[in-house]
Amino acid sequence: MATSGRIALVTGANRGIGFEVSRQLGRLGYHVLLSGRDAAKVAQAAEALRAEGFSISPLQLDISDPASIQAAAAQVTQEYGRLDVLVNNAAIYYMTRQKASNVDLSLAQAAVQTNVLGAWQMAQAFLPLLRKGTHVRIVNVSSESGSIARMKTSYDSAIYSMTKAALNAVTRMLAVDLKSEGILVNSICPGWVDTEMGGPGGRPIPDGAASVVWAVTLPDDGPTGAFFQDGQPLPW
Ligand SMILES: NC(=O)c1ccc[n+]([C@@H]2O[C@H](COP(=O)([O-])OP(=O)(O)OC[C@H]3O[C@@H](n4cnc5c(N)ncnc54)[C@H](OP(=O)(O)O)[C@@H]3O)[C@@H](O)[C@H]2O)c1
Repeated sequence: MATSGRIALVTGANRGIGFEVSRQLGRLGYHVLLSGRDAAKVAQAAEALRAEGFSISPLQLDISDPASIQAAAAQVTQEYGRLDVLVNNAAIYYMTRQKASNVDLSLAQAAVQTNVLGAWQMAQAFLPLLRKGTHVRIVNVSSESGSIARMKTSYDSAIYSMTKAALNAVTRMLAVDLKSEGILVNSICPGWVDTEMGGPGGRPIPDGAASVVWAVTLPDDGPTGAFFQDGQPLPW
């Protein structure tokens, strides 16, 4: 499909995998709305990719704040009137050494607000714009740690894993709702990636980002409501 003139919004894109997804989409010819919660960081990141020759606009957007999501949707409506791709990438709270049996559940609310409700509200708020797009894709950046099928050993990162399992449920339900409109919705694990969240030792950021971009560039008859890493199915 021709990508020139197509518009993609990436959340949490000022660093890490989201930044590299923005770069790879820029390379493919997308106009990228590079979003993040800190306006200064977003402006700096957008400028860095513009300097590499890509078509990038900064967008201040805190996905944990419903008012910020609504304001961003209003801004994109006014400035572009449509959206072709939404990459729900932003997430928080990967913490090891947390077990389901004793983790402090008062910490769960913020993680759910960002990782689950933030992505879900993004999809809802931008749906009117996505419905005006073409070859529309919603990509929820998830994690293998949210695979219930693989939670067979004593599990750590319990809260984070729960949020990614819930995000996967949102993926499935949105995919069912939007299938008749030709909108593809998938969950993608980027693998263990060497970012601030992943920590040292993971694979290079471009490899993790490519796993995500694969789902953006699926053909119209591609899969929907599924969970992948590097184009290969993962068990729910
Ligand atoms: N790295 C891995 O090994 C790995 C493995 C599996 C899945 N993932 C998933 O991949 C995605 C990207 O992870 P990463 O490794 O790139 O993480 P990261 O380096 O920690 O970057 C996270 C990004 O999300 C942003 N963010 C956090 N809360 C936000 C909010 N409320 N509103 C908007 N932006 C927000 C951060 O912005 P600030 O700079 O303002 O904090 C940052 O830009 C996440 O969904 C993560 O769960 C990562």
